[in-house]
Amino acid sequence: MKVFLVLPTYNERANIGRMISSLDQVFQTLRHDMNILVVDDNSPDGTQDVVREYQTTRPYLHLITGQKQGLGKAYIRGMEEALRLGADAVFEMDSDFSHDPWDVPRLLKALEDGADFVIGSRYVPGGSIPAEWSTYRKLNSKFGNIVARYVAGIYPVRDCTAGFRCIRARVLQDVDLATIRTQGYGFQVSLLHAAYISGARIREIPVKFTDRVEGESKLGFQDIIEFIVNAWSIRLRGLETFARFCVVGFSGVIVNLGLFSLLHAAGLSKYIASPLAIEASILWNFTLNHKWTFAQRQNQRRTAIKGLQFNLVSLVSLGISFGTFVLLSHLFPEGSPHLFQVCGIIPATAVNYFLNSYWTFVDRGRVVSDGTPASETPSRH
Ligand code: GDD
Ligand code: MN
Repeated sequence: MKVFLVLPTYNERANIGRMISSLDQVFQTLRHDMNILVVDDNSPDGTQDVVREYQTTRPYLHLITGQKQGLGKAYIRGMEEALRLGADAVFEMDSDFSHDPWDVPRLLKALEDGADFVIGSRYVPGGSIPAEWSTYRKLNSKFGNIVARYVAGIYPVRDCTAGFRCIRARVLQDVDLATIRTQGYGFQVSLLHAAYISGARIREIPVKFTDRVEGESKLGFQDIIEFIVNAWSIRLRGLETFARFCVVGFSGVIVNLGLFSLLHAAGLSKYIASPLAIEASILWNFTLNHKWTFAQRQNQRRTAIKGLQFNLVSLVSLGISFGTFVLLSHLFPEGSPHLFQVCGIIPATAVNYFLNSYWTFVDRGRVVSDGTPASETPSRH
């Protein structure tokens, strides 16, 4: 296999040489055609001079340069170049020793074992973030992953923002890098999402993320803004599922009212006709959501169990809808009860969708989270 490690650099003069030397040692233990591709955005500290010096004795060390346009743009250029040079697998990796070079073989092994998109994950058992990180950085990282999982919808992945990854070239060709618009750190989520919906088999391998010793992080405020906007734009593009869910919900209302009228006309007491019609519409909704709205979701649970969960969620929605009604009636005693009844539908639908999407029909397919502890191999850098 021809493997390329894409290392973006911006002012990493103090790190890049040692990184290359460390990787040299790691490569000696691997039987693949290992290559390094440094993407330097004309760092003012002269990072690329160091790389050029190392290149004289290393034919497998490549360098591309350009203007600074952000981490995402650097990765896109680097990955396109790696594909052009015939890569079968491409690594993303920091050049500041945040990612242990001795973890490279573990990620590669997971790819050889069949995964298409391997993540060096800080948030699976055995993985970790630096204990010395400030509360702000910890929260920032946690928050980023919550946004990526719940807003962008990459729920099954624990570490969506990780910058240590080993990706099969075919996945990068499938997703078409040119269509990715994120320029900064948000790129990580854009790429992961594109791979996820293209059906790539994703696997998380625990790694211990180390704080850099030399230089400083390049993550800026602009990156955080772009990150959040990007997650929401992914969400909006994914509105199709929600639209289907609403269509099903409307059809359920028709079933509910239609059946109620029928049963009532047939002479059944309205107190029996009503719950029968309600339950019938819940089962109707469940069947359509199961077969249509969430048909793509992979989930091993038995249909009967999901049906039960769906019923429970319906009960919760009923509570929310009624609760909103009662609350508004208390707050505005003069207001229109019809309006309050309609107002109740909005939070109830939102919660109903959220719970069914992330619980009843949660996607458990394709992503494998390793519970095995990170290798205890001492770092040799
Ligand atoms: N060429 C280029 N251009 N390189 C850049 C740029 C850029 O605009 N911005 C950052 N880099 C390089 C850095 O020099 C470093 O080698 C690597 O990209 C990662 O940047 P850091 O500044 O060290 O990132 P970090 O440690 O804050 O963030 C890490 O964790 C994040 C998740 O918490 C990285 O792994 C991120 O990719 C990851 O999203
Ligand atoms: Mn770093």
